[in-house]
Amino acid sequence: MLPSPFSLSRLTLTNFRNHADLRMELTPAPVVLTGLNGSGKTNILEAISLLVPGRGMCHASVNEWQHNAHPEPWAVVADIAQSENGAERIATGRDPENPESERRIVLIDGRPVKSQQVLAEHVAMAWITPDMDRILGDGPSARRKFLDRMVYSFDPAHAGRVHRYEKALRERLRLLRDGVADAVWLAGLEDEMARTGVAIAAARLHLIQQLQTAIADTQSVFPKADLALQGMVEEGVATGPALLVEDRLRAALARTRSDDAQNGTCSVGPHRSDLIVVHRAQNCPAALCSTGEQKALLVAMVLAYVRILSHARDRMPLFLLDDITAHLDRVRREALFEEILSMRVQGWLTGTDEAFFATLLPRASHFTVSHGRVVP
Ligand SMILES: Nc1ncnc2c1ncn2[C@@H]1O[C@H](COP(=O)(O)OP(=O)(O)OP(=O)(O)O)[C@@H](O)[C@H]1O
Ligand SMILES: [Mg+2]
Repeated sequence: MLPSPFSLSRLTLTNFRNHADLRMELTPAPVVLTGLNGSGKTNILEAISLLVPGRGMCHASVNEWQHNAHPEPWAVVADIAQSENGAERIATGRDPENPESERRIVLIDGRPVKSQQVLAEHVAMAWITPDMDRILGDGPSARRKFLDRMVYSFDPAHAGRVHRYEKALRERLRLLRDGVADAVWLAGLEDEMARTGVAIAAARLHLIQQLQTAIADTQSVFPKADLALQGMVEEGVATGPALLVEDRLRAALARTRSDDAQNGTCSVGPHRSDLIVVHRAQNCPAALCSTGEQKALLVAMVLAYVRILSHARDRMPLFLLDDITAHLDRVRREALFEEILSMRVQGWLTGTDEAFFATLLPRASHFTVSHGRVVP
C-alpha cells in the first residue's frame, strides 16, 4: 500500500524574513521556485521547515525570522490538503501576546498547542540544503547531527535522549574541571550517560539498517552508499547485548576521569561516533569523492530516508530541496525529478535558473520569486 498523500494547498507568510505578505495556492504537484539571488526562495522553504518541531532548516531564531522593516509579528500558515485528519490548518509564529518571547507559538486548526513537539504528529519532513553539501567531506559532528535529525522523525524520544545525554556529559565535565571528586555524583552522571548513550546508539543503528535496506531496494542512477557507524558504543550494540555495552561504557567513563579532567573533553561515548559512508561502485570513502558524487550520495541517502519515513508514518513527508541543481549533472537532475514524481511527494525545489527544471515544469507548480513576491 502506498502511504497517504500529503501536501500543502495554501501557504501564507506574514512578515517572515523578506516576505511581508505572501500567499501561494498549491496543488499536490511538486513546487518549483525560481528567481534571482536574494529574491526569497530559501526563505519560503525555511518557513515551511517550521511546520515540524525545531529551529527550522537554517537553525535560526524567532527574532531572525521577523521581517526587519515590519515589526508586526511574523506568521506562517499552511493549509494541508489531505491528511488522515482531513483538511487541516497549521500556524506558527511570534506570540502577539508576548512579543518578547523567544519561543514560537503553534496553532492547529486555530487552537494553540502546548508544545511545538505536537507538530511531529501532524507533519513529516525531509530537506536538502546547500549547507549539507559539506556533510560527507567535513568532520564527524555534522554527520552525527544529520543522522540524529533523521532518527528524531522516526523516534521522537530520541531528541530527549540526546538532550539528557549531553546534559549529563556537560555536568560531568564541569565537575571534573572544577576538581569536584564526588564519586557518587560522578557515577550517577556516568550511569545516565551509559544508559542514554546505548539507547542513542541503538536508535542510530536501527535507522542505518533501514536506510541500507531502502538503498539496496532501489534501482536508480544515484550511487549506492554503504553505511556504517563507527564508535565503541554503536559497534558494541551491533554485536552484543545492550546491557553489556552499558557496563562497558560506564567503566570506560570511570576510567577516563583524570584524562578527561586534564583535556577538558569526554573521550568515550556516542558523541564521538561517526557515520561512515562509502561510494559502493567506486569503493571510495565519501570524503574522497568529487563534489558532485558527494551530492549524489547525499541525495540518494535522503531519498532512501523519504521512502522509509513515508512507510513508517504511513504518509508522505514534505520534501524541501534548496538550490538542488547545484553540483548535479543533467542525468542525476532528471532522475531526481522522476523520483519525486513517482513517489508522489510534494517536493519544493528552488534554483536560480528555470532552464534546469525544464523537464519538471510541465508537471509542477512553478512560481517566480522576486523581492519577496511570487508570481505563478
Ligand atoms: N529578517 C529579515 N527581514 C527582511 N529581509 C531578510 C531577513 N532575513 C533575510 N532577509 C533577506 O532575504 C534575502 C535572502 O533571501 P533568500 O535567502 O531566500 O534568497 P534566495 O532567493 O534563496 O537567494 P539565493 O539564490 O542566493 O539562494 C536577502 O536579501 C536578505 O537580506
Ligand atoms: Mg537560497
